[in-house]
Amino acid sequence: MKIGRITISDRASAGVYADRSGPEIENVLREFLGSAVMFESAIVPDEIDLISSVLKKFADELKCDLIVTTGGTGVSTRDVTPEATRAVLEKELPGFGEAMRMQSLAKVKTAILSRALAGTRGPTLIVNLPGKPSAVRECLEIIAPAMCEGVAHLRGENPHASTSQKK
Ligand code: MTE
Repeated sequence: MKIGRITISDRASAGVYADRSGPEIENVLREFLGSAVMFESAIVPDEIDLISSVLKKFADELKCDLIVTTGGTGVSTRDVTPEATRAVLEKELPGFGEAMRMQSLAKVKTAILSRALAGTRGPTLIVNLPGKPSAVRECLEIIAPAMCEGVAHLRGENPHASTSQKK
């Protein structure tokens, strides 16, 4: 499986601080998926056109099965990740954001400040996560099972083939 991880942050992209959230996406997904995954990575500033064009490049040219972004999902003026993502999605999957917000809210009272989206572009699943490294882990632990199954469906694999044949 090929996974694109994109850190969206003005300051991380300018080198003001080191990106810890992008590597955390990789750590958590390797825990779930093992070593049979390869990663592409990018760090981009909070600019809507730049974010959309990196998403398109990772999906259409690099043929990532899954793209996970971190950062820029909040309410600050510079937070435009959901808008940039929506511009490239073909189908939205609202359940990912709903589940992350609802389940995170029990632990983190500010979780509903994230406007994270998810959806598909061709055979690529795209998921936004909030920007903090701790939020990356919290959210990926909530959505990882559905994310893996979504990728399998988009790759044309049917994890429930034997079940559906019995119907
Ligand atoms: N979700 C989880 N699970 N854990 C968190 O710490 N932080 C929240 C929210 N979602 C958080 C979370 C906060 S404080 C903000 S401002 C929003 O995500 C948006 O974060 P972002 O702008 O870095 O994407």
